[in-house]
Amino acid sequence: LSNLKHVAIIMDGNGRWAEDKGLSRTEGHIAGTQNIRRVVRQLIVNNVQYVTLYAFSTENWDRPVDEVDSLLQILSDSIVNETTEMNDEGVRIRHLGRIDRLPARLQKAIDKSVDLTSQNTVINLNVAFDYGGRDEIVQAVRRIVESAVKPDDITEDTLSSELFTVGMPDPDLIIRTAGEMRISNFMIWQASYSEYYSSPVYWPDFDELELNNALSEYSRRKRKFGTLNKTVT
Ligand code: IPE
Ligand code: IPE
Ligand code: MG
Repeated sequence: LSNLKHVAIIMDGNGRWAEDKGLSRTEGHIAGTQNIRRVVRQLIVNNVQYVTLYAFSTENWDRPVDEVDSLLQILSDSIVNETTEMNDEGVRIRHLGRIDRLPARLQKAIDKSVDLTSQNTVINLNVAFDYGGRDEIVQAVRRIVESAVKPDDITEDTLSSELFTVGMPDPDLIIRTAGEMRISNFMIWQASYSEYYSSPVYWPDFDELELNNALSEYSRRKRKFGTLNKTVT
């Protein structure tokens, strides 16, 4: 799939997966985090260059404090435990979102894994954590205003270059698991022409086969970008 550079995934349904099995929501989040490796490997097999995973939204702070704490803890643990192996596999890890509201320990773990993997080229893995599309745009606008650029000189590229995704291609395909059909403040600028795919499967069960189903559905879509061409690549 030569026209598929960037896959973004809204990893949803950890809580419902756990509930179905009589487990705690925390166990659902742990299972969800363990699924990341499997999906990233399969994206590498498919030669995808960028994958963005929505792990924690700016709105997720409004969940009960216990759940927020366990999500922060699970992310810290998984960064510490997975970075070495991801690095060996050539994964370049980046963080999208706000870093300033995360616990200092987690900030350090993120910085370390971003630095360690910065020369890797097999696949780019963006972890969106404390990420919100509106927040990202507000911050970009603040920087543009501070730079005192003339209003007429502000273009779409000006804004794109102030987003966390600067220099990256827009997502070609956005997958959401657990059957939901909403964007939930994810990449609202970058998603303007993304193909959207909703899978009924809960994230911890979203395996190689489910991913391949999404990719083959994508390959059958005709992207037109507002033109009359049947396909634009
Ligand atoms: C997705 O699973 C993970 C996060 C949003 C952090 P949920 O926790 O949203 O799972 P459901 O939607 O309650 O099943
Ligand atoms: C979106 O899932 C955020 C992440 C997957 C990190 P939510 O479960 O928070 O979204 P809503 O509340 O169903 O829209
Ligand atoms: Mg959810």
